[in-house]
Amino acid sequence: MHDNTWSGLALVVGTGGIGQAISERLQQRFPDLTLITAGRQGGIRHQVQLDLESDVDLERLAPALKHFDQPLRLVFNCSGRLHGPGLQPEKRLTQLTREALAEQFAINAFAPVLLAKAIEPLLKRDRPFHFASLSARVGSITDNRSGGWYGYRAAKSAQNQLLKTLSIEWGRRWPNATVTLLHPGTTDTALSKPFQSFVPPEKLFSPERAADQLLAVLSCQTPPQSGSFVAWDGQPIDW
Ligand SMILES: NC(=O)c1ccc[n+]([C@@H]2O[C@H](COP(=O)([O-])OP(=O)(O)OC[C@H]3O[C@@H](n4cnc5c(N)ncnc54)[C@H](OP(=O)(O)O)[C@@H]3O)[C@@H](O)[C@H]2O)c1
Repeated sequence: MHDNTWSGLALVVGTGGIGQAISERLQQRFPDLTLITAGRQGGIRHQVQLDLESDVDLERLAPALKHFDQPLRLVFNCSGRLHGPGLQPEKRLTQLTREALAEQFAINAFAPVLLAKAIEPLLKRDRPFHFASLSARVGSITDNRSGGWYGYRAAKSAQNQLLKTLSIEWGRRWPNATVTLLHPGTTDTALSKPFQSFVPPEKLFSPERAADQLLAVLSCQTPPQSGSFVAWDGQPIDW
């Protein structure tokens, strides 16, 4: 890992399979970071209550982080949704519904950029800062060879465009910030569980391995690379 000197506040949003492992690794590897986790279940589960689909929660985020009185060094968005109650990735056109498309976009596309908007008041021009968000290779339009998963694919593509656009604005306003879209690789979590049967065991990462790989990639990101869409192995992914 190139940089093990991160200090200040690290906010991890969404402590599902990958987010939990990212949180643990950050604590182990970067003793000078103060880790804050945020998610829908506040209280014991997370220090900060944050439903990314709630504008009220997003408005309360910056004031809640200010209480820690430390510079914000890192925000890692580990939230996302592929399936859930009433939500299944579509195999064919007839399965598309307006409601499911809206849900996919709310969490996988709009949430990351609204999270960036919410924390922007805490940025400082002279301070290094990483904004990382989990996307997915299936959001690559160039790489779409098998079709299906309309809503999830399109929402991840939209996230990529929104955060690429953000990286251009932040490049001017916050020259020490980076914005990185990361593909974790297929990882053994609740999100991928129903779709693992065709994945060879050596291609299914444990959340801990995924976290190590993602943090290794992120720690190499510098401001000139901001706006990259990168896989777990550091390789760029075509848009
Ligand atoms: N696992 C893979 O193979 C894989 C592959 C490619 C990309 N990814 C991406 O990696 C990210 C993490 O996935 P994962 O595998 O760790 O999935 P996961 O275990 O299902 O975790 C997803 C997390 O997102 C949170 N979340 C969902 N809606 C939220 C909301 N409205 N506000 C706040 N948090 C919310 C969930 O919180 P709750 O506990 O409250 O539901 C959960 O903590 C996702 O963006 C996913 O698309 C995963």
